[in-house]
Amino acid sequence: MTEPPNGPNRAAPERVARDAASTGDDKYIGKQFSIEEIAAVVRSCTRCGLAGTRINAVPGEGSDSPSILFIGEGPGANEDQQGRPFVGRAGKLLDELLGVVPLLRSDVYITNVVKCRPPGNRDPLPEEVRACWPYLEAQISLLKPHVIATLGRHAMNRFLPNARISDQHGRATVWRDIVIFPLYHPAAALRSTTLRQTLENDIRSLPAAVLQSLEMSAVRSQTRSETDVSIAADSTSRPPRESSADDEANQNRLF
Ligand code: URA
Ligand code: SF4
Repeated sequence: MTEPPNGPNRAAPERVARDAASTGDDKYIGKQFSIEEIAAVVRSCTRCGLAGTRINAVPGEGSDSPSILFIGEGPGANEDQQGRPFVGRAGKLLDELLGVVPLLRSDVYITNVVKCRPPGNRDPLPEEVRACWPYLEAQISLLKPHVIATLGRHAMNRFLPNARISDQHGRATVWRDIVIFPLYHPAAALRSTTLRQTLENDIRSLPAAVLQSLEMSAVRSQTRSETDVSIAADSTSRPPRESSADDEANQNRLF
């Protein structure tokens, strides 16, 4: 499994428009997309080979201002049939565990790294992930979740390339100003009662991760307004340094 070529980053929704336009449908050029409009583009997308084998694309679903965005790797057979994410046995378990918090599906948004089912549930190919990534970027930048909860090792490694799920599950890490909270995949929890318990405990920590994220944004806006004051007070001061573009360097453990 490899990272998208330039690594994940938060593109404006217009970037999707441009990418969609490169498939030949220029009605998307320059358009500001809503989350439902992104879903509509995904449903008719032919940007990669998975379009040829899917029954339905699975754009994602849930709140349009979710505190938590759940991201799996790709739709399975049930999802492909229904066009909805996490509706099979793993999805039922996810619903059940969300209920423990308690959270409803309609409180969060659930999607996948690739929106169409890889045949036989194989891992998506690098070019498939690359082709589909702009949709996820646009969803992240529109939904602005406080926390991204990745489901399983593969989805986690899209954001934290070298992380190990056994180390990182249930721990918040900052990736480009967003809190990433890796979770075991519910399908893995169906196969092991120990993992199921671990997944449940980690899901119980999600509200704390959301709180942590809110505190982080408050500190960020506080720092920003202090910076504004100091620039106004001292016009000779140099502009603040750009933060490092390096993903690894930008990752800070919260807890
Ligand atoms: N597994 C995933 O990763 N995603 C789904 O939508 C369903 C199962
Ligand atoms: Fe388009 Fe993504 Fe489906 Fe490929 S997987 S056809 S890029 S929606």
